[in-house]
Amino acid sequence: MNMNNQRSNFSGKLGFVLAAAGSAVGLGNIWRFPYLAAKYGGGIFLLIYLILVATFGYAMIVSESAIGRMTQKSPVGAFNILGKGKGHGFFCFGGWLNAIIPIIIVPYYSVIGGWVFKYLWEYLTGGVHRVADDNFFAGFISNSVSAEFWFILFTLVTIGIIFAGVENGIERVSRIMMPLLVLLAVIVSIYSVTRPGAMEGVKYFLIPDFAHFSWMTIVTAMGQMFYSLSIAMGILITFGSYMKKEVSIEGSTSNVEIFDTAIAILAGLMIIPAVFAFSGADAAANLKAGPSLMFIMIPKVFDSMGLGQFGGIVFFLLVLLAAITSSIALAESAASTFQDELGWGRRKATVVVAVIMLALGSLSSLGFGVLGSIKIIGMDFLDFFDFLSNSIMMPIAAFAICILVVYKVGVDRIAEEVTVSGKFRRRKLYNFVIRYAAPLFIIIILISSILNAFGIVKM
Ligand code: PHE
Repeated sequence: MNMNNQRSNFSGKLGFVLAAAGSAVGLGNIWRFPYLAAKYGGGIFLLIYLILVATFGYAMIVSESAIGRMTQKSPVGAFNILGKGKGHGFFCFGGWLNAIIPIIIVPYYSVIGGWVFKYLWEYLTGGVHRVADDNFFAGFISNSVSAEFWFILFTLVTIGIIFAGVENGIERVSRIMMPLLVLLAVIVSIYSVTRPGAMEGVKYFLIPDFAHFSWMTIVTAMGQMFYSLSIAMGILITFGSYMKKEVSIEGSTSNVEIFDTAIAILAGLMIIPAVFAFSGADAAANLKAGPSLMFIMIPKVFDSMGLGQFGGIVFFLLVLLAAITSSIALAESAASTFQDELGWGRRKATVVVAVIMLALGSLSSLGFGVLGSIKIIGMDFLDFFDFLSNSIMMPIAAFAICILVVYKVGVDRIAEEVTVSGKFRRRKLYNFVIRYAAPLFIIIILISSILNAFGIVKM
């Protein structure tokens, strides 16, 4: 990805799709989606998620890419230019908010990346049975020294790659890895859903049941949509600015949405049926396991397989790569905001990002160990940063984009930008979502999730 220095162009549709899909597919699909789906209602979560992606998510991707291509700027610059006149202060705030979100996400993202690293190491050194043990994961994250070690290693790899300027090499590697990841995910999910007892899980995940619905199902599905599609965090504005005029915005963004969602569903099929097949009496508790779910269930799947060690190595290697490409995109975007907007040199910007990653990430990592007694509004640090970025900051950032489009840019100018290079079939849907549905929905969700977090209402 070319995020710095001169504004270069993606080579064509494929270039944009690959870069956007590369940043979209990551831990969000494989780690975050399955645990949220398991915890917040299974099929009903999936249904709401799909509806949101096809309407709200779609309108956001189109808006961000069009804004980026139209202004040739990153988020702060784009908001600054388009938001001139009345309400300029609000729009500048919106631009900065979009740009700041990756800085909040990348530290805790790297903590999870560190966990993936640790598991890869365990498989390499033959720990197939050990990692499948019920207490392995809890033991690992509560041991502050080792969790911190793997987190720092992951952070250094991310920063090291940015410093060495070999992102392009990594991108190339990841283009081979992506299809492999899909292939492996297909194999593992077929294995997983055919285990005895797994069908219960397949049903739970795929068939909506309103009995499992809660307000939090909608709140978390929306946050996950932002996170997984990399929207409401400035990334796609930047990508849009590298997009050539002849590339169809509607066509390429649909591809990204479909690909990203397909991987999330595959990950759900790997993990959720396994909860029913492998955790026996703990099934109900494991469904609610939260961030640890993948790390508890996947090892059980591999442990029961003939080629468990090999499978585990390949799986965690691929997930590690997907995580690294995402953490690079996040850290890069943070660094380039400092460079572009504060006039810092690349070295200084990268060092500052590294320091922030180490500081905030250590809180998240140690929050399961020595800092375990500290809770912020009832959450440990990792959950708190995740909540802050996904349920508070991103809705506001998305709201700012809707308002910018409706009151400053105008939906017609967006449509003009989209139709420069292709059709805009879902234009009516787009207009309705961006004008009415999305802003209203965001306000409701935002207020309710804040009330919920502070325990004022219970949802
Ligand atoms: N969308 C990525 C994921 O699902 C997270 C991410 C966001 C990566 C923004 C890069 C940039 O893991």
